[in-house]
Amino acid sequence: MGSHACVELLDHGYEVIVVDDYANSTPHVFARVERIAGRFVGAVYELDIRDRRALSAVFDRHPVDAVMHFAAHKSVSGSVESPVEYYDTNVGGTTALLSTMHEHGVHRLVFSSSCSVYGDAGADPLDESTPAGPTNPYAASKWACEQILADVCRRRPEYTVLCLRYFNPAGAHPSGLLGEDPQSAPDNLMPHVAQVALGHRKQLQVFGGDYPTPDGTAVRDYIHVMDTVEAHRVALDHLVDAPGMRVFNLGLGQGSSVLDVVGVFSEASAKPIPYEVGPRRPGDVATLVADASAVTRAWGWRPTRTLVDICRDAWHFQRLNPHGYAGAARRPNSKL
Ligand code: WQD
Repeated sequence: MGSHACVELLDHGYEVIVVDDYANSTPHVFARVERIAGRFVGAVYELDIRDRRALSAVFDRHPVDAVMHFAAHKSVSGSVESPVEYYDTNVGGTTALLSTMHEHGVHRLVFSSSCSVYGDAGADPLDESTPAGPTNPYAASKWACEQILADVCRRRPEYTVLCLRYFNPAGAHPSGLLGEDPQSAPDNLMPHVAQVALGHRKQLQVFGGDYPTPDGTAVRDYIHVMDTVEAHRVALDHLVDAPGMRVFNLGLGQGSSVLDVVGVFSEASAKPIPYEVGPRRPGDVATLVADASAVTRAWGWRPTRTLVDICRDAWHFQRLNPHGYAGAARRPNSKL
């Protein structure tokens, strides 16, 4: 997500400073970001945002107008296995960032929240007023961050915060140069399906075939990563519209089951995707689909790419980079 956002921002004339600990990413992306955008990312610092001293040094060095905060763990099953790590990184990272921003007089933030905060809210499209009910530690960590941000905004009128509740971002940059390269076994559906199509995995394990959905598999609202980062760039333009915190769903507004994704990906890749239906994954819910109309009403923006585009672009990246970014050119980190 971060690398795609860099391209989007550079393409629109922004200066970009990146901070990343590469926990689930790689510095190899930057040479490619620069190849696509034809411009350099201003600086790249390897650090954990919980390291307040190092983070503060970055803010000392660069004037910052606004922050896009993508730094978090994002696996539902990982969070069930390691809840403390999830709260520590996702919530602790956010509080460390907020206090550093505060010390440096930076008060504009676009925050990556998640549809998972809605929990098991039912099969109808969910608008932003749906009560939260997180069902796993990942979702609870994102909901905790939203509450912290709301408290900060209530107390301090100088803050403007946009929480973007992503549904299921997937896909890749259409060039095939940027995409998802999980640093350990992929947890998310799309990279898993891509690796099965490539032949790196024998089959897809479908988590649950007994959900109350049309084909029994879980339904999600997949949104193209390029639409997602476009929304972030548009959000920057709208940060100043109103003080305080605002929350928007980022989804296509269309539900697709696991088997829908398998079918569309198989067609996009012209490869069979063998699968086996197994038990449900702890923490999962049956259906999460966005009522995505609020962001369109507010900003006149809507996602335009479909599940077919998502699968085509994810496959294009995977086919051109069967081993991810391994072996790609690397740009050195900036030194503090
Ligand atoms: C999708 C569906 C699985 C893998 C995500 C992100 C999270 C957040 C919310 C933004 C589920 C099923 C998966 C596999 C499968 N988004 N599946 N076999 O759980 O909806 O959570 O959305 O913040 O970041 O993680 O996404 O891609 O893991 O799963 O059957 O091997 O595919 O059970 O129903 P999920 P996902």
